[in-house]
Amino acid sequence: MQVFKTKKELIDTLSANVSTSKSLGLVPTMGALHKGHISLIDKANKENNTVVVSIFVNPTQFNNQEDLEKYPKTLEKDIALIKTVSDQIIIYSPSIKEIYDGNVASENYNFGELASVMEGEFRAGHFNGVGTIVEELLTSVKPNKAYFGEKDFQQLQIINKLVQLKKIPVEIIGCPIVREENGLAMSSRNERLSKKTRNDASFIYKTLQNAKIKFGTKSALEVINWVESEFLKKENFKLEYFQIAETTTLTPIEKKIKNKKYRAFIAVFVDDVRLIDNIAL
Ligand code: PAF
Repeated sequence: MQVFKTKKELIDTLSANVSTSKSLGLVPTMGALHKGHISLIDKANKENNTVVVSIFVNPTQFNNQEDLEKYPKTLEKDIALIKTVSDQIIIYSPSIKEIYDGNVASENYNFGELASVMEGEFRAGHFNGVGTIVEELLTSVKPNKAYFGEKDFQQLQIINKLVQLKKIPVEIIGCPIVREENGLAMSSRNERLSKKTRNDASFIYKTLQNAKIKFGTKSALEVINWVESEFLKKENFKLEYFQIAETTTLTPIEKKIKNKKYRAFIAVFVDDVRLIDNIAL
């Protein structure tokens, strides 16, 4: 496995490896890899001649210092897991200094409403941090395709907007959510849940599935009220938001409009771990 710590080493290797006729895929991650990441890496590996997986816990996208400190760092395990897909995959694991060169700050983007709702509302500055690192990775690695999971659906739409704003020539590929057997969306944060809580957390996806059924016959407001009342009954769950929004603009729904596509989004604290999920309606 080739593991690079500096941009120069990575770029030198890529320019030697990738001729213009071949395709390069990038899978940006923050490490602590699980089956959700592996599905992205696997897809990238099938669709490209060369694949780079970046592993970088990006400080500027954390609005909570404790969350950043608790973020699991498991590089050796991650490398071993990537190797199960292919030992030809290139790993880029830079330091904070390599990326930010002493100025650990985000660029200010104009993502419009996409960045002011849901995660944008509850995690101040988060999407500027995501935009900063993703722009840095896309412009230095210069992939033909970059892969992101739909669990972070709002992030995916922000990245689509980023490449449009900055005119970055890359195809952004959204990949379906991978779930644990009980329905809980795979996330590095699941590791912080006790066995019992991890089991209880299946309630989040079950509620989304029921909300989807109700959305067939009830108004958006009725569905929102129903979800909120369900979470009030659960002692160790604290619902941060449940929102139904139009799929591409993420404009929160006021009234159902025929032929528009909607998605339901949720953020919940289970004990002190913040989990997010979403479902197409
Ligand atoms: O989804 C993530 O893991 C991160 O937000 C990303 C896209 C790797 C940027 O740090």
